[in-house]
Amino acid sequence: MQRRTEIREVLGMEALGQTITVKGWVRAFRSNRFVALYDGSDFNTLQVVVDFENTPEETLKQIDFHACIAATGRLVESQGAGQTMELLAENIEILGAANPEAYSLQPKRMTMEYLREKAHFRMRTNTFSAVFRIRHGLAYAVHKFYNDRGYYYLHTPIVTGSDAEGAGEMFRVTTFEPNKAPLTEDGQVDFKQDFFGKATNLTVSGQLQGEIGALALGKIYTFGPTFRAENSNTSRHLAEFWMIEPEVAFYDIHDNMDLAEDFCKYLIDYVLLHYPDDLAFLDKRIADMEKNMPKEKRRPMGLIETLRFVAENDFERITYTEAVRTLKNSKPYKKGKFEYPVEWGEELQSEHERYLVEKKYKKPVIVRDYPAKAKAFYMRMNDQEEGVPGRTVAAMDVLFPGIGELIGGSQREERLEVLQERMDAMHVSQEELYWYLELRKFGGAPHAGFGLGFERMVQFVTGMGNIRDVIAFPRTPGNAEF
Ligand code: 4AD
Ligand code: MG
Repeated sequence: MQRRTEIREVLGMEALGQTITVKGWVRAFRSNRFVALYDGSDFNTLQVVVDFENTPEETLKQIDFHACIAATGRLVESQGAGQTMELLAENIEILGAANPEAYSLQPKRMTMEYLREKAHFRMRTNTFSAVFRIRHGLAYAVHKFYNDRGYYYLHTPIVTGSDAEGAGEMFRVTTFEPNKAPLTEDGQVDFKQDFFGKATNLTVSGQLQGEIGALALGKIYTFGPTFRAENSNTSRHLAEFWMIEPEVAFYDIHDNMDLAEDFCKYLIDYVLLHYPDDLAFLDKRIADMEKNMPKEKRRPMGLIETLRFVAENDFERITYTEAVRTLKNSKPYKKGKFEYPVEWGEELQSEHERYLVEKKYKKPVIVRDYPAKAKAFYMRMNDQEEGVPGRTVAAMDVLFPGIGELIGGSQREERLEVLQERMDAMHVSQEELYWYLELRKFGGAPHAGFGLGFERMVQFVTGMGNIRDVIAFPRTPGNAEF
């Protein structure tokens, strides 16, 4: 096999004149002569000029949209507009015919819904290849951010017996056959006889084990798949998604917010710096789509402008109590436009979050100190505050424009008795989580952490409207194809 040169390398070459081989897929074929060749290494294509007089008829016929070809020839300065160089092909070999009659993609705009059904081909399109290059860049930047700051990457388990969030939306892991599970005397499924000797499920979060790491290594982060069996068919929920969860000893809620803000800005900056061509394409894609929309439906800023703005400006930081007060003073509230009630103690709904982020502050907002009753057992109880109707916990959510909740986190309850009381009140088993309690009994320390939903960050950075279009093979209710 001829050694191929990747198009990214070719496009960066200073000297021309040499003979090289490139291999890739045909993005476009114009005038029976000009191939726009794409190999995934770069957003940009390489123009390959076909010598149609000396290329066999049979080969010419097969150069078609998404055919896979190898082209060997000399790299020269381009005569045409739009590119600085091109490859004058002396030989073209068809590596994989396109079979256009039966192929499911067409060289024209296709809907996202259609492409989702063709997930085995959609990555060949401009849009999806840009999204997945950026997704890679973000994943790399996650590791770089934490490694550069002395954090250790901890691999927390995927199969676990504990339900960190207490929401009960878990996928069971078992080797029992449905309908043939052994039963105990009182008719319950006897998980003692199951593979792990206990009831297990796919993890919803690596946090509880992450805390073990933080109380030994000081600063850890996890970056792994998490699973939630919530029946949410929204543009921001997946049943299988990736989460980054830093956990830090000696951090309080304010340190935690600083870390979250720095982390978000770093990821955005990284993509702005390293993926300008992919971003420019996605920016233009959105602008084109919005051209015919009414003004109020359009984004207030272009994609790249939004990213720069978020990276350069301080996030707004407010308490839940302040958020409720602000919402009660808002126009939509006074005009009865909110669907859900705004009352201290009620959860903030996405319409409320959107108002705060998109209308009131027009930038990311960190809301902290939520009512205790709606939050997980491990969040640190705050003292009763004057003028605040009920008890709060040191929880924080980072809300992003167009996305809603990007990050959820908290300072953790490090006081044994307070934690035990909370667990009892919330029916979390002290027996099962004995090790979590022992972390408080033996050399416990104040600590804090958060979870960032990776796909939601990819959505924000790429401007993709649906979370199913930023993960290669989405798992959602009713769908586990590929
Ligand atoms: O707010 P959540 O549920 O927090 C936790 O799991 C904590 N244990 C994190 C921690 O403190 N270490 O989830 C964290 C983030 C959310 O803010 C959201 O971005 C994302 O995970 N997320 C989802 N993303 C896609 N699909 C879903 N079904 C998601 N559920 C949560
Ligand atoms: Mg949350």
